[in-house]
Order: sequence, then structure tokens, then C-alpha cells
Amino acid sequence: MNKKRIVTGDRPTGRLHIGHYFGSLKNRVAMQESGEYEPYILIADVQALTDNFNNPEKVRKNVREVVMDYLSVGIDPAKTTIYIQSMIPETAELTVFYSNLVTIARLERNPTVKTEIAQKKEIFGESVTYGFLGYPVSQAADITVLNGEIVPVGEDQLPLIEQCREIVRKFNSIYGDILIEPEAVLSKEKRIKGLDGNEKMGKSLGNAIYLSDTPEEVNKKVMNAVTDPNRIKKDDLGNPDICMVSYYHKLFDNKEEYENVCKECREGKRGCVACKKQLAENINKTLEPIRQKRKYYEERPEIVDKILIEGTEKAREEARKTMKKVKKAMKLDYFEN
Ligand code: TRP
Repeated sequence: MNKKRIVTGDRPTGRLHIGHYFGSLKNRVAMQESGEYEPYILIADVQALTDNFNNPEKVRKNVREVVMDYLSVGIDPAKTTIYIQSMIPETAELTVFYSNLVTIARLERNPTVKTEIAQKKEIFGESVTYGFLGYPVSQAADITVLNGEIVPVGEDQLPLIEQCREIVRKFNSIYGDILIEPEAVLSKEKRIKGLDGNEKMGKSLGNAIYLSDTPEEVNKKVMNAVTDPNRIKKDDLGNPDICMVSYYHKLFDNKEEYENVCKECREGKRGCVACKKQLAENINKTLEPIRQKRKYYEERPEIVDKILIEGTEKAREEARKTMKKVKKAMKLDYFEN
């Protein structure tokens, strides 16, 4: 059976949190275990530099943090190839070739890029860099240099995959049918809200629980989570629909436990503190095996390095093959017979 090639990745700008866990990591592990795919995951350090060019230390440090997060949730290097984007120079080369096939106006229209530029005024001021505006082109190279067929993504990444598909079609129409047009597969889970109710969970917002948080950190964060503001005393009738603690109970409890939490809240039978304690306990129960696994790798950095070196070598081999075909198609194969 022909296994479908998956290419996906993350920018290494921070440790991964439970939003990543429910939004993408669980799905990646499930796809890996299904045996139907050949998954590649890239640590997108070059892309991370597009909006962190002035902070290379942050990007460097987080490469290993993200890899350890992957390994701790069950990404298995025997089944999934993990590699570092900057160590595949063919990607940078392909990005330059693709840059002729995409207009500036088209990049400026990309909704994801547009939103990000608006959010990153403190980095870019009034005029965005060429590198950031062009990161969809480099992402198209990430995917196609490895002949990715499937890209499992969250909703925010769809415009990037669409742009990649356009570049592929344009390339193939000019130079011949060389590239594979990838397909986005939307992860079923929706984005997980932050502990404060914000639509987005993230480091800058201080509303995230990290996979590598200690039990004490989890307890503290859960205690500060936002609950129904109208509920002041324990026997006030609560509304779990506007409570972040109940929102998280739904993610971490079994159905029966969750329904009971909501019922007791509505009836004013369970206080918020007890409710939070139980939630923290359940989160910690889920995180404990992940922490154990992470600790194993934290204590053995040489194993993490070996995984990255081997993964990168494997990905590079594939990238070299694609570039050979690309250069031939573009008449850049000067001394090949
Ligand atoms: N843009 C992705 C993110 O912000 C990271 C990424 C880089 C990626 N290259 C990719 C995702 C290729 C999928 C495929 O998380």
C-alpha cells in the first residue's frame, strides 16, 4: 500500500501547550499510529526568525523544547521524521524559484499573513519585511520539497496551503508536471481558548498551560482561571456556559464527570474552589505521563540530538531528489550530461 506523505510543522518560539495538544498533537499521533501515512514534522526555525529575527537565541533554545514536547506526547521518531527546516538548504533555494511565481499583491491578500502583520506592529512598524510577507512562499517550499501530499492544519493555516497549491499549479503549468499539489486536512478539534476566556491561548497572553508545566504550576493557573462572574457565594446558582473551568472540565473529564460538574454548579451545590481542584487534578493526571516522558529526554540530550540529525538527513535526501528534478525542469541542470 502506498502511504500518503504528511508534511507539517511548528515555529519554535515557545514550549507547546495544551492548545497545541488538543489542536494538533493528538491528531498527529493518531495519524502516525494509523499506519496510513508517512509523516514528516519540521521545526520551522527559519519561519520563526521571520518575526523573531532580532531574537535568534529564543528560536535556537525552543528548537529542542518543541522536539521534546513532540516526543513526550508520543510522536515516535521511528514512524515520524522530525527535522530542522534551516538544515534543508534546498528549501531556501526552492523559495527563490517560487518567488517569481507569486505576486506581492497576492501575498498581501493572504488573510493569515494580513492578520499577523496587524498583530505585529511592534516588530514591523508600518512596513513589513520582505521575509515575513513572503513566508507563505517558503512554507510552500517546505511542503513541496518533500513531496507532501497531506498537510494537517488548523483553520488559520488554510490560506497558506491554498497559496501553496496555487504556486504548484503555476510551476507545473510553466515547467512541467513535477510538483505534487498538497491537500490541507483540517483537524477536527477547534482552537482551545485560554484560561482567561481569550479565543487564543498563548505565551504573550499568559493564559496557557504548558505540557511541561509542573503540577504546582497547573494548580496555580487553574486557581486563577475565569469563572462565572455572577457567582459570588458557593450557593449562588452558577452558569457553566460562561465559566472557563467548566470549559476545561469538558476537555479533561469523562462525560459523566463533566455533566455532574455542570449540574452541581447550576444547582449551587459545588463551589468554584472545589471545582477547580478537581480540574487541576484531572489535568495533572493527563500531563503526568507526558512529564515523565519529557524528563527522560531532558536527561538525555544526546538522544534528542540523534533524532534530529537522523531525521534531518532523511528529509534532506528527499529534498535533494526533488531539487534535481526541479532544476532539470527549469533548465538549470548545466553540467548534468
Ligand atoms: N506556519 C506554521 C505555523 O505557524 C509552521 C509551518 C512551517 C508549517 N512550515 C510548515 C506547517 C509546513 C505545515 C507545513 O505553525
